[in-house]
Amino acid sequence: MSIQTLIEQATIPPSGSVSSSPFDTDSFNEAVMSTYARFPLALERGAGCRVWDTQGREYLDFVAGIATCTLGHAHPAMVEAVTRQIQKLHHVSNLYYIPEQGELAQWIIQHSCADRVFFCNSGAEANEAAIKLARKYAHTVLDIEKPIILTANASFHGRTLATITATGQPKYQKHFDPLVPGFHYVDYNDIGAVEAAISELDEGDYRVAAILIEPLQGEGGVRPGDVAYFQKLRQICDETGVLLIFDEVQVGMGRSGKLWGYEHLGVEPDIFTSAKGLGGGIPIGAMMSKKFCDIFQPGEHASTFGGNPFACGVALTVCQTLERDNILQNVEARGEQLRNGLKAIAAKYPNYISEVRGWGLINGLELQADTQLVAADIVKVAIDEGVLLVPAGPKVVRFVPPLIVTEAEVDTALKAVEAAIATVTK
Ligand SMILES: Cc1ncc(COP(=O)(O)O)c(C=O)c1O
Repeated sequence: MSIQTLIEQATIPPSGSVSSSPFDTDSFNEAVMSTYARFPLALERGAGCRVWDTQGREYLDFVAGIATCTLGHAHPAMVEAVTRQIQKLHHVSNLYYIPEQGELAQWIIQHSCADRVFFCNSGAEANEAAIKLARKYAHTVLDIEKPIILTANASFHGRTLATITATGQPKYQKHFDPLVPGFHYVDYNDIGAVEAAISELDEGDYRVAAILIEPLQGEGGVRPGDVAYFQKLRQICDETGVLLIFDEVQVGMGRSGKLWGYEHLGVEPDIFTSAKGLGGGIPIGAMMSKKFCDIFQPGEHASTFGGNPFACGVALTVCQTLERDNILQNVEARGEQLRNGLKAIAAKYPNYISEVRGWGLINGLELQADTQLVAADIVKVAIDEGVLLVPAGPKVVRFVPPLIVTEAEVDTALKAVEAAIATVTK
């Protein structure tokens, strides 16, 4: 079945079900903690790559829950999987064998370099698991008393205490100290910095035990990794025993046009993490390990919800649908169309736009450093033009639509973006 047919089959909001008055943001803000600077928009329905607000206005969704809704909204395969699984069995403890968990793990293993999988509920949790595994590996295999994990400046790994510490951006750490010890930051794509850190930090009980890094930095501004840098990283890790951990939470699960970001770099990690697109919007996270699979013993790591029948049953459907409908081909074609269109816009605004970059359907449009313009200015006006976008840092507008986005939808988004840029640069 074609992607277009699937979208057409998706639920279109019934007319007459919308509210004529604006959403009451004040009541919302009185009840919900202000952890997000929200746009004044309340979304209540979706179908394919489109969402509708409470007043019935339609938007093209190029945010996809921040690179999460792999199959868009109300995809028939997901509707079927959610319904089937909730009717059958939605949650039991990991004290028992869960068939859907085993099947999802087998799918991931068959489609990656992984040998074994641990399931949790989010990207931060998957990275926490990787950090714990790396520390135990350091203590028990490498015999390091005080293991250090190298991470990159401008990285993003989550919001728990360990993962904000791993995140190489002070703005996420401010006011939350004392942070977790054992992390050290190096510049991304700079192999000299890694070599220097490994030798300088080898002192007394301290030693570098692992490198945790994104194949493409998402939140840090949609910055793809250099092939030569990652190949040298792999070589250093092979020579020293340092674990190479890839955070595939944003770039993985087909978003880059390949199933895993590391496939762009010609290297395989020892450990990698996934979340976001894995469940297509149903909360799930996973940590995959190659070789070092027996580090965790029963009782050393766990999660009540992690790997439950509901999340795994739906995620398995997302994975199988990606494969069955050959969606990665669409990601490559639509990604190229989007980048070419954005580059054509950038050529018209050289004083404002410095670069367009990305892989597959994770792309960024970077604004010139010396303009007053920030990404949020474009995002706000794009909403008025009917397209949802999200910044990746102050100067980069990010484009992460569902992987089923059509040629016509990319064209519509490009027109809206161009109109938004024309408005903000007037
Ligand atoms: C690369 C990366 N790692 C980890 C996370 C954290 O994921 P979650 O919000 O599911 O905890 C994110 C979220 O944006 C991410 O982009």
